[in-house]
Amino acid sequence: MALYSEKVMDHFRNPRNVGIIEDADGIGEVGNAKCGDIMKFYIKVQDGIVSDIKFETFGCGSAIASASMATELIKGQPVEKVLELTNRAVVEALDGLPTHKIHCSVLAEEVIKAALKDYYDKNGIEYDPALFPDEHDCEHCEI
Ligand code: FES
Repeated sequence: MALYSEKVMDHFRNPRNVGIIEDADGIGEVGNAKCGDIMKFYIKVQDGIVSDIKFETFGCGSAIASASMATELIKGQPVEKVLELTNRAVVEALDGLPTHKIHCSVLAEEVIKAALKDYYDKNGIEYDPALFPDEHDCEHCEI
């Protein structure tokens, strides 16, 4: 069996929503200290809906595929729904990732949360700080 699913390879080769949004409503950037990979997401929010999203990543193929798939899952969704996005949902949408690459999908979950937090902060929207833990909690990594 191939190490990577067709969907992973497709999103790695043809990543969706790559780029930056100059007038983004929220920007999130996270990195993985162990592998050194970095992911950055830009979001536009209109009437509580993520109307546009773009990403840049300096990361491995699984990070690129995870970010690309995450943007597809997020675009057009209400902000509250996006907050519930888990790395597990990204992995499932990609038809799986090898176990040692699951952490790459965690970056996608963390970066969208960072972008949403930035959006809330910039717009003075109140939120439960527990939604955005400062430290990465590996207990939270699913799968
Ligand atoms: Fe670092 Fe994939 S190896 S995100």
